[in-house]
Amino acid sequence: MEIIIEPDATALAERAAQVVFGELARKPDLVLGLATGKTPVGLYEKLRIRPESFAKVRFFNLDEYFDLPPSDPNSFNYFLHFHLIKHVQHDPKNLHLLRGDVKDPEALSRELEEKIRAVGGIDLQVLGIGKNGHIAFNEPGSSLGSRTRPKTLEDSTLEEYRKSAPSGASVPRFAITMGVGTIMDARHLLMLASGAGKADIIREMVEGAITSEVPATCLQLHPKATVILDEAAASRLKRRDYYKWVFENKWRVGQK
Ligand code: PGA
Repeated sequence: MEIIIEPDATALAERAAQVVFGELARKPDLVLGLATGKTPVGLYEKLRIRPESFAKVRFFNLDEYFDLPPSDPNSFNYFLHFHLIKHVQHDPKNLHLLRGDVKDPEALSRELEEKIRAVGGIDLQVLGIGKNGHIAFNEPGSSLGSRTRPKTLEDSTLEEYRKSAPSGASVPRFAITMGVGTIMDARHLLMLASGAGKADIIREMVEGAITSEVPATCLQLHPKATVILDEAAASRLKRRDYYKWVFENKWRVGQK
């Protein structure tokens, strides 16, 4: 896992955009997995600056609430259009975003796995982390080999949702989520976390034992995971100074 520590959320977004544009320069028809939540919003703002870069990109996303149609402002589908898709050039046939208003979520889950296989796998998957250690909606206890499936959300996740949802919005209890195993199959993972509220779980993810109790610890097993943090999210890391030194000096070992 490569740990990059930036001074603040703005610098974090800038660094994350560099990673995405770097991948796009290598492969213009990148298979890009998007994430939702507060954390990637800054990244999406930076990506919108070069709308032409996305003309050939194949888009996927991690998860979606049950029952919410893409037109619902609380759906992740709506969120991704609002923050990124509608601002960048894209081919509608390359949009493979999940939708929650389907009769058979199990069938949709299988279909997503098949679509990912059909395009040759996800090249770059953007990730956030929940305070409970979830990635996508793989709540604590999720099998580290799990595939895309319907999932029941934990109380702590529902509580986070309540804080950010408009008042009166009903709180979804179920979602469809890529599995931990599905996420681990992506060739490059780009995890972003900012703010002091994430400091404890980031320490567990980076320096704790690998366990399904903290699904994000699976990143320790991934061959290419880039973790970009701001100072606040990195503040509880035992080896914070070491990670900074390694990143600043990586040119010395020919990785730049
Ligand atoms: P956040 O959500 O970016 O809003 O903190 C992250 C997550 O729950 O995956």
